[in-house]
Amino acid sequence: MGRSLDRRAFLLSSLLASMNLSHAKAMEKLPRRKKGKVLVAGGSGQTGLHIMRILDENRYTPLGLTTNVARAQSKVPDKEYDWLAVDVRDVATMLNVFKGVDYVICALGSGRSTRAGITPETIDYGGVKNVVDLAVQNEIKHFVLISSAGATISDPEHYFNRLSGNSFIWKFKGEEHLRVSGLTYTIIRPGNLNLKDKDYEPGTRGIVFDQGDRIFGADNALIHRVDLAEVCVAALADSNSRNKTFEVYADQNSPLNAWRESGFRELKPDT
Ligand SMILES: NC(=O)c1ccc[n+]([C@@H]2O[C@H](COP(=O)([O-])OP(=O)(O)OC[C@H]3O[C@@H](n4cnc5c(N)ncnc54)[C@H](OP(=O)(O)O)[C@@H]3O)[C@@H](O)[C@H]2O)c1
Repeated sequence: MGRSLDRRAFLLSSLLASMNLSHAKAMEKLPRRKKGKVLVAGGSGQTGLHIMRILDENRYTPLGLTTNVARAQSKVPDKEYDWLAVDVRDVATMLNVFKGVDYVICALGSGRSTRAGITPETIDYGGVKNVVDLAVQNEIKHFVLISSAGATISDPEHYFNRLSGNSFIWKFKGEEHLRVSGLTYTIIRPGNLNLKDKDYEPGTRGIVFDQGDRIFGADNALIHRVDLAEVCVAALADSNSRNKTFEVYADQNSPLNAWRESGFRELKPDT
């Protein structure tokens, strides 16, 4: 009697083990799931294109917004990204773009544009506001915004505001709209992105996070757009990035990739 029970128990456990094995094999055959769909406003821009690539490499599904899909596609002819044509100044052009979207990264900019009506007021504030409002309505999980070091400089007589159509003033208004939106967010204020060839290769310097808007104008406060894009994508998955505003720059004296371990965690949340 005892022996036949032992044998039945052995057969049962063998059967369960083989079922688990075949289940494991079946799981292996499933396609790898992407981590979620990420709307990249400004995905066709100089930083935005790096964000699109890094999202793709990290198994997210990027969806890029641009005013001109053919032009965006022509910048990355070997990639098959999804693009949608919008004008972020006009909410009506964006009503359907949030379908199935989990996250938003906003890399919009008016910076060097000579196009009529593309200004800090209409893009860095107005466009950002429109994207944030639609993100709220569509209950996305997290919103990452690229702003700028110097965004708290509110004096319209400051040389940079005078030169740039009050860029910092409008950037800050865009930030504020996101901070009070109710979304969870990360606001990243990069230092100078306009590097010269001699400056540095992306991925070869440590990246420093700072708070208090202290770095604008410092000689060494620069960061490669690829490194900035890495920080934007990392912020999506790191819960320590939630509801924080901070500056970023590259620093050859800081350990490479240390920011990935502790950078977000050491920042203070906004109050
Ligand atoms: N340059 C710097 O040193 C510096 C420093 C600190 C912060 N930043 C900030 O960093 C961010 C990224 O800068 P970047 O130079 O990489 O950007 P960028 O190359 O100027 O790209 C701007 C993006 O905005 C999009 N855009 C502009 N108007 C639009 C509209 N009406 N509707 C939809 N999309 C529109 C463009 O799309 P299409 O052209 O495809 O339409 C493009 O994808 C910006 O927010 C910038 O202000 C820059």
